[in-house]
Amino acid sequence: MHFQWYPGHMTKARRMMQENIKLIDLIIELVDARIPLSSRNPDIDELGRNKARLILLNKADLAEDSRNDEWIEYFREKGWPAVKVNSKKGGGIKSIQSVIQEACREKTERDRKRGILNRPVRAMVVGIPNVGKSTFINALAGKACAKTGNKPGVTKGKQWIRLNKNVELLDTPGILWPKFEDQEVGLKLAFIGSIKDEILQTEELAAELIRFLNASYPGVLEEKYSIEAGEDPYEELRLIAESRHCLLKGSGLDTEKAAGILLDDFRNGRLGRITLEIPENAR
Ligand code: G4P
Repeated sequence: MHFQWYPGHMTKARRMMQENIKLIDLIIELVDARIPLSSRNPDIDELGRNKARLILLNKADLAEDSRNDEWIEYFREKGWPAVKVNSKKGGGIKSIQSVIQEACREKTERDRKRGILNRPVRAMVVGIPNVGKSTFINALAGKACAKTGNKPGVTKGKQWIRLNKNVELLDTPGILWPKFEDQEVGLKLAFIGSIKDEILQTEELAAELIRFLNASYPGVLEEKYSIEAGEDPYEELRLIAESRHCLLKGSGLDTEKAAGILLDDFRNGRLGRITLEIPENAR
C-alpha cells in the first residue's frame, strides 16, 4: 500500500487526532522496529503531552532481535514503556494488556485517590501509514470482542472496542505522517516500502540498500545470491541479475528487475532480520 501525502490529508489527519486525543488516556504509538526513529513523527510528543504513552516496536519479526531489545531500552530511558510485537503472527500481543496497565499506573492511581474506581482506560493507536495499525488492532481485539459506543440509529460518535473490563480502544487509528522531507528518513522509508518507489529509481534505491548491507550486514548478499561482494553496488546489482537470471529481451541484464527482487527480498525478511537504525546513533 502506497500513500501519497498532500497538505490537505495531513491537516485533516492532525485535526482528527487532536479531537480524538481529548477522549483518551493512553496513546499506543506503533513504530517500525527496523526504523524506530524514522517511522515516528515527533509531533505526537506535542499532541500527546499529558497522556500516558506506550511504544510498540511492530514488525519486530523483521528486525534484529538484539537491536529490538536495545530500542526498548532506549524508549524506556525516555520514560515510555516499550514492547516488541509481531502483529501479523500475534507475537507479543498477549502481554500488551498488562503493559497497558503499567503505562497507565499513574492515571489509575490518580483516579483511585479521587474515589474513581474501575474506570476503564481509553486508548488510541497511532502511527504512520503501513506501520501495521489495522493489523495490530485486529490482533489485539480478536474477533470475539464487542464493540461499544454507537447505539442503533445513531451514526455519530466513536466506536470503542472493549478489550476487557479495564481497557477500551478507539477502533480508528490516528495517522501520523513521517518526516519524509528529511532525505535520510525518506530513504529508509523507501527501503521498507512505506513510500513510493518512484521517489528514487528502483535501481538507485537498491544500490543504496546494497551499500548499507555491505557496511552493516557483510556477507548477507553474498550468501543469498551466491555472488562476490565488490566496491561498486551497481556491479553487485548486475551480479544479482545474473544469479537470478534477470535478462532483457534480446541481450543484456535486467538490473531493474534484479533491484525489484532485492528490495522485495529485504522487505519480506528473506535476507534475514535486519535493522536499519541503531539507538547508538540516536542518543
Ligand atoms: P496500517 O493500518 O498502519 O496502514 O498498516 P496495516 O495494518 O495495513 O499493515 C501494513 C502491512 O504490514 C500489511 O502487509 C501487514 O500484513 C504488515 N504487517 C503488520 N504488522 C506486521 C508485523 O508485525 N510483521 C510483519 N512481518 N508484517 C506486518 P501487506 O503487505 O499490506 O499485506 P499482507 O502481505 O499481510 O497481505
